[in-house]
Amino acid sequence: MIPSGLPDFDRRATQYDSHAAPQREAASWLAEWLPEQIPAPALELGAGTGLFTRHLAARTRGLVACDVAPRMVQIGRNSLPEVAWSVAEASHPPGPPGYRSIFSCSLMQWIPDPRETLRAWHRLAAPGAQLISGWFVRGTLAGFYAVCPDAAPFRWRTGDEWIELLQEAGWRSVRSETRTFARRHASAVAMLREMHRAGTVVPHRFGAGRLRHVLRRYDETNREDDGLQTTFAFLRVEAVRL
Ligand SMILES: C[S@@+](CC[C@H](N)C(=O)[O-])C[C@H]1O[C@@H](n2cnc3c(N)ncnc32)[C@H](O)[C@@H]1O
Repeated sequence: MIPSGLPDFDRRATQYDSHAAPQREAASWLAEWLPEQIPAPALELGAGTGLFTRHLAARTRGLVACDVAPRMVQIGRNSLPEVAWSVAEASHPPGPPGYRSIFSCSLMQWIPDPRETLRAWHRLAAPGAQLISGWFVRGTLAGFYAVCPDAAPFRWRTGDEWIELLQEAGWRSVRSETRTFARRHASAVAMLREMHRAGTVVPHRFGAGRLRHVLRRYDETNREDDGLQTTFAFLRVEAVRL
């Protein structure tokens, strides 16, 4: 069962692919760093419906892909049956130990205790294993959080903070880079609707009145003639298990 207080990925699973434009763009950008042949066995955490998994599946036959949301996993399994799918919390990935490659895309910002989770991946990784992972960092939805700082469902970390966390968990960063993606929406309501449909909103955090007020302020402070631009900052990292 998915604990409450988490985003809505499971309930919105069938809509995810049609409304996850920033995640799709991020997955393609992260895939640029994949080797032509991925050393197996390989593990992907938070695989969702498989937006990034398809890049991995084209480069290895020994891939295990998991996600905590059963309906996301079901969609992934249907579209990529050659991958071994399973429902799993990122902090308790399936064994056995000895993975030579570990991946995740657009997952890490959601993890409540990333240091512990990265340690769990470290325990399952073979010495010298490669981690290629990317996730959203501070700067994402910056305009929105400027008008409503308490809307953030977690503390956004900077790229430098994340690299330090990786080191502490036993991963040495080989290279890392942050890029900003922009999305344009007709209004703040349209932006939030897209995020809802992708499942990236934690439900019921605000009452309707407060939400209307915040969206109006976001519109007032950010909207231009051709709509409103929302930014997403994405960090990609390649690291090696120490
Ligand atoms: C934004 S989606 C990204 C999915 C996919 N990797 C992609 O690039 O489109 C985040 C995914 O992480 C999963 N997720 C969130 N927290 C998780 C956790 N603690 N353990 C495992 N999966 C988690 C969600 O269910 C969701 O499928």
